[in-house]
Amino acid sequence: MTEREYVLGTGDDELARLALQNRLWGDVSAKAFRRAELKMGQRVLDVGCGPGYASFDLADVVTRYGSVLGVDESETFIEHATQMAEARGIAHFQGAVGDVQELDAVLEGQEPFDFAYARWVLCFVPDPEAVVRGIANALAPGGRLAVQDYFDYNSMTLVPRRRSHDLAVAATMRLWSGRGGDPDIGQRLPAMFEKHGLRLDDVRAHLRVARGSDTMFAWPNTWWHSFGPKLVAMGELAQSDCDELIDDLKKIENGEGFVQCPAVYEFIATKI
Ligand SMILES: C[S@@+](CC[C@H](N)C(=O)[O-])C[C@H]1O[C@@H](n2cnc3c(N)ncnc32)[C@H](O)[C@@H]1O
Repeated sequence: MTEREYVLGTGDDELARLALQNRLWGDVSAKAFRRAELKMGQRVLDVGCGPGYASFDLADVVTRYGSVLGVDESETFIEHATQMAEARGIAHFQGAVGDVQELDAVLEGQEPFDFAYARWVLCFVPDPEAVVRGIANALAPGGRLAVQDYFDYNSMTLVPRRRSHDLAVAATMRLWSGRGGDPDIGQRLPAMFEKHGLRLDDVRAHLRVARGSDTMFAWPNTWWHSFGPKLVAMGELAQSDCDELIDDLKKIENGEGFVQCPAVYEFIATKI
């Protein structure tokens, strides 16, 4: 995949959205790190690290006695992550530009890793099994993998249901799948883990509901404000339906109903 092909883009709006998303889901990822027994001194691989927001959370846990290598195909994101790491004095973070479907080549010469993290990246790649295989190869025996990704993307809905939102979710899933991604990737992961020598230790789902006054409301709200117009520009959603969607979100902001966010599945596995 080239930078242009990442379905959500790598512009400033996506950079800001990923920062917000990391803040909103930081409690969930921190618990996953604890459940997977991430420790000081470990070598960590952040697969599809984006601008590095989760990488820095990982770097906090492993401290300077460990290290975090973030891999992403976007030069813009890796440059951003590298600059932020320098500004914050996180010398044990390193970024690498590369396709996570070709991890064997990207990681050539690297020592085995103790821990790998892949959040919201397997759902975007045409060959998620290649990513899982590469992660399995990169981990030391006993190394852990934590994945957070989507399953049942259709679970994202306004409550009460609204026509505009149903259309926007359907358009998103259509576009995403058309680019080779899978918004329901979670259902395919356990079989891939088993095939590549990763024992599934724990699986759980996180379903969040947000009222207009909740901080979590910013997640779907900023998502649709940024992605709705992109769907229109790509001919996937009519302008009038996008306008209706923005009005429907305004109603929620004003206290009428709420949003059910898409279900996020969490998997923890061990390399056997
Ligand atoms: C939704 S972002 C998630 C970023 C980060 N994991 C996080 O949770 O904040 C998806 C990331 O996957 C990256 N990506 C998509 N396809 C990729 C590929 N084939 N190889 C490497 N990175 C890829 C994108 O550039 C983007 O940074």
